[in-house]
Amino acid sequence: MSAATTHEKLGLGIDLGTTNLLVFLERKGIIFDEPAVIAFDRESGKIVAAGEDAHKMLGKVHDKISVVKPLRNGVISDMRAAKALLTYVLGKIENLTEKDLSKTTCVICCPSEVTKIERDVMTDLAMKMKITDVFIEEEIKSGALGSGVDIFKSKGVMVVDIGGGTTDVGVISFGDIVLSRTIRRAGSFMDDEISKYVKKTQNVEIGELTSEKMKIELGDLLVDAKSVVARYAGRDMVRGIPKWVMLSTAEMQTILTPVFDEIVKLITGVLKDTPPELSADIYNHGILLTGGCSMIRGVEQYIQQRIQVPVKVVHNPLTCVVEGTKYLLKNRGDYLVNPLQL
Ligand SMILES: Nc1ncnc2c1ncn2[C@@H]1O[C@H](COP(=O)(O)OP(=O)(O)OP(=O)(O)O)[C@@H](O)[C@H]1O
Ligand SMILES: [Mg+2]
Repeated sequence: MSAATTHEKLGLGIDLGTTNLLVFLERKGIIFDEPAVIAFDRESGKIVAAGEDAHKMLGKVHDKISVVKPLRNGVISDMRAAKALLTYVLGKIENLTEKDLSKTTCVICCPSEVTKIERDVMTDLAMKMKITDVFIEEEIKSGALGSGVDIFKSKGVMVVDIGGGTTDVGVISFGDIVLSRTIRRAGSFMDDEISKYVKKTQNVEIGELTSEKMKIELGDLLVDAKSVVARYAGRDMVRGIPKWVMLSTAEMQTILTPVFDEIVKLITGVLKDTPPELSADIYNHGILLTGGCSMIRGVEQYIQQRIQVPVKVVHNPLTCVVEGTKYLLKNRGDYLVNPLQL
């Protein structure tokens, strides 16, 4: 029996990110946590793979398969792929049919500063999946809740989400966002910068899986970062043959530092516009870092040293947004109702 048949309204929380898709289903927990990638057979349109399996295909398949990431910079850029990915995941993992989905309440998380049209696209996606009861919530709000912070208390909380497509900074107080700003600079941008650097300095082309691997393995913003040099495979741009690339932690710092400087600038800008009483709370309680790129070594220290405010990566940077949907589903984002006390 499918999960939705036992109760009238089943809560569904979706964190459809640029890099990762996470889905929370009430009474089950997190039912999906894999890359937001789908692969189609070009001719028949059939789904060949989704999630982790499709991610492995990036840059490696023949012409008959197209591998698609449905999101760019935090917003849906390919509706067909987004719908196919979610339908596939929900159907395959939980046997949720369109009829089941029509009986769910669904929250979809998105960056705080997206246009109305971009938000409407998220709602549209749910409608296309026959989910009629849907609301959109900001990732930073959900992330703070999912990391265990009671945002419904008066104290001001600043959250910085450094994800795959966007970096989102927001101040939350009394259960809702007071101010926020988003830039389209995050993990994927860093990966692009890495591959540009390797192209420029070594005349070697690398794929996106490799540049991401380099970032995760060599990324370290600490002043006294351990000096490491690692070897990766690429393709010689002149001769077209496979070639090794050597990259060091020091070079990686040179590539990543300008991106983190932009993030620091973004945080400083938001702090400047924060009402004084809330600033005091933030100074006292520190800034919360969420999102996959907050896991790059030394990020806490890098930001803290520059803005002189305590900074802390949450215990669950990759899953906190979807974990927070559990609470948002209980109060539908109504700041007057504290779901942590329900
Ligand atoms: N251990 C790690 N060290 C460094 N970076 C990491 C690590 N794990 C994941 N990342 C990076 O984190 C990013 C993905 O983070 P996350 O899942 O928060 O993004 P997302 O929610 O899909 O994107 P967005 O919210 O911007 O749309 C990727 O760029 C990935 O390379
Ligand atoms: Mg995210």
